[in-house]
Amino acid sequence: MKPERPEPPASPQEGEAVRPGRGAFTTRPEVRAVYQRRARHYDFAAKLYYLIGFREQAYRKMAIEALQLRRGDRVVDIGCGTGLNFAILQDKVGPKGRIIGVDLSPAMLAEARRRVTGHGWSNVELVESAAAAYLFPREIDGILSTLALTLEPDYDAVIARGAEALRPGDRWVVLDIKLPFNWLRHLAPYVIFLVRPFAVSLALAERHPWVAMERHLENTTLTELYFGFAYIASGEAL
Ligand SMILES: C[S@@+](CC[C@H](N)C(=O)[O-])C[C@H]1O[C@@H](n2cnc3c(N)ncnc32)[C@H](O)[C@@H]1O
Repeated sequence: MKPERPEPPASPQEGEAVRPGRGAFTTRPEVRAVYQRRARHYDFAAKLYYLIGFREQAYRKMAIEALQLRRGDRVVDIGCGTGLNFAILQDKVGPKGRIIGVDLSPAMLAEARRRVTGHGWSNVELVESAAAAYLFPREIDGILSTLALTLEPDYDAVIARGAEALRPGDRWVVLDIKLPFNWLRHLAPYVIFLVRPFAVSLALAERHPWVAMERHLENTTLTELYFGFAYIASGEAL
């Protein structure tokens, strides 16, 4: 199946390069430090995005739907943060399934652990690791990453290794933010302050996980959300 979109520029057009500017958090230690500070208030802050029409929970549900999980499946959530995907994933995989949350921030994982304990979920494993250092287990049925993979400098290798761990037909799904493919991209320097608290800077506009997914997976799709500033990409392992 063809991707559901016109071919995007692989990178910003000549002469319209987006500049990183101040506060470009591009390395793992920088990103980790930001999330160590933000963890306590992350869930509340995430809800505030509704005020600008970013339907975060609805987008999560769409992304998880795209995984096509069944009861009893095992799913990896890369950059799981405080575990905002876990309840939706639990609905899909059930108590006999397994959720493995991977994140490089101990403080975010501590919040995730609190959520897991609070719900009494015994089928969730939390792993402190940078995505690029994580060894995907065999016997997994899907991989998800929401609002996190673009923060990993070596996202291409993460997608490739994840694709190798999946069985043919199993799905990798990414929900993340990006620059729109159309003229709206020029608004980015004016709206970037909205996501800067989460270590998102214009420097990340050079990272294109959905293109890496086209390289390492088949039957890839790309659905733009929120005026093209966000997307859900999915693909099947070969
Ligand atoms: C915006 S939060 C998203 C959290 C969660 N996925 C969600 O949808 O609410 C980004 C998360 O990615 C994690 N993260 C950033 N870079 C990472 C990396 N290289 N490897 C693993 N986790 C990373 C951060 O610690 C943070 O918890």
